[in-house]
Amino acid sequence: MQSKIIIANWKAYLSIVESEELAKEIYDFAKSKKDLPKIIICPSFPALPSVGKILCGRKNIKLGAQNASWCERGAYTGEVIAPCLGELGCEFVILGHSERRKHFNEKNPDINQRVKMALQNNLTPIVCVGETREEKQAGQRDDVVRAQVIECAGDLDPEPGQKIIIAYEPVWVIGTGQAVAPEDAEHSHQVIKQALVDKYSESEYNTHFQIIYGGSVGAGNLKGFFEKDIIAGVLVGGASAKAQSLKQLIEVCL
Ligand code: PGA
Repeated sequence: MQSKIIIANWKAYLSIVESEELAKEIYDFAKSKKDLPKIIICPSFPALPSVGKILCGRKNIKLGAQNASWCERGAYTGEVIAPCLGELGCEFVILGHSERRKHFNEKNPDINQRVKMALQNNLTPIVCVGETREEKQAGQRDDVVRAQVIECAGDLDPEPGQKIIIAYEPVWVIGTGQAVAPEDAEHSHQVIKQALVDKYSESEYNTHFQIIYGGSVGAGNLKGFFEKDIIAGVLVGGASAKAQSLKQLIEVCL
């Protein structure tokens, strides 16, 4: 199978100790395997230092954060800035996740600022977009996704070698155990690709962008998504935060 990405979003499911235990288990499991897929582990902020130490040294396992501020440094009490994430060994950062949009009122323009700040600090942004159930029922899926892509990632100036990952996550399937059909995910990937090609160019798209799917991915449905060329990987929440299901996901890729 062509090399795909698995991004593990541990959300706020685990304590620091639990995150360390899971990271150790995955590290030991990965040690015994050849040809691992590219795995990006995104623990909560407080677990980043120790999980990073546990995972460092495994070539195909990278560290990511679940958010980063739009400010670089200054009087912003409680913010986590991109340079600190780099110092902790993060190479990736999830931005604009639907749970950030819903519970913390993050909007496209501020997500756009976060994306720019991440790139400025050499972090690869994983920019989440996706329609809600109401938007889908109103027939607005493609328009909503297109607008999110353009407003969050339509005016970037990536340096040579920099990548931007767009995660298509239909909000209404996240955490439900019921993913959308791979064909539906493929359709939205095409909408996202077209929006980016229109803003940049086909060759800039190919050089700098990748699109992945997220929303109730597990070992049972992973293959269907990976069979689609345009789907470069998956963003996994619930199934990535338990050792057994994360190992099963990795096994599917071997
Ligand atoms: P889920 O979460 O895999 O639990 O549906 C995905 C996500 O929110 O990124």
